[in-house]
Amino acid sequence: MNLKTSMIQSTEKTDFIKWNPSYKTGIPVIDEQHEHLVNLCNDFYKNLLTNKGTDEYKKLVKETLDTCVKYAATHFQEEEKLMIASNFSGYNEHKHSHDVFKEKCQDTCFNIDDISVAEAIKFAKFLYEWIHNHIAHEDKLYIPTLKKFLQERASK
Ligand code: FEO
Repeated sequence: MNLKTSMIQSTEKTDFIKWNPSYKTGIPVIDEQHEHLVNLCNDFYKNLLTNKGTDEYKKLVKETLDTCVKYAATHFQEEEKLMIASNFSGYNEHKHSHDVFKEKCQDTCFNIDDISVAEAIKFAKFLYEWIHNHIAHEDKLYIPTLKKFLQERASK
């Protein structure tokens, strides 16, 4: 079983995205935010699966998606500040990736009342794919630059 397959858990009792130590950047503030983001994504997915047919369904799905997307935006902002402060050379490309993701999420949040459960689950899978690829690969690119910057800042 490869890393990606091992992280997909599709039962109602388990997390959709299983936090994996390989996600870690070694930068505590970033790692805490990533873990929280994964938990929020799981909350959204669990509500999609477990509350179908209830009066609260749309409200819960909307609220958990909204919380997840807002937290992602806050995390991106903090990450981007650190990338700018440390002069990370891949900043523009990384920010573009954040912006494209935010736009897709905002569109889905805006239309959540009109989309079917199947479409919402498809979107949850997109969230999983994106978070997996971004945290496990793209975010890793800034680690040396940010760590050096944070170490220098701490030693001043
Ligand atoms: Fe941790 Fe680039 O998001």
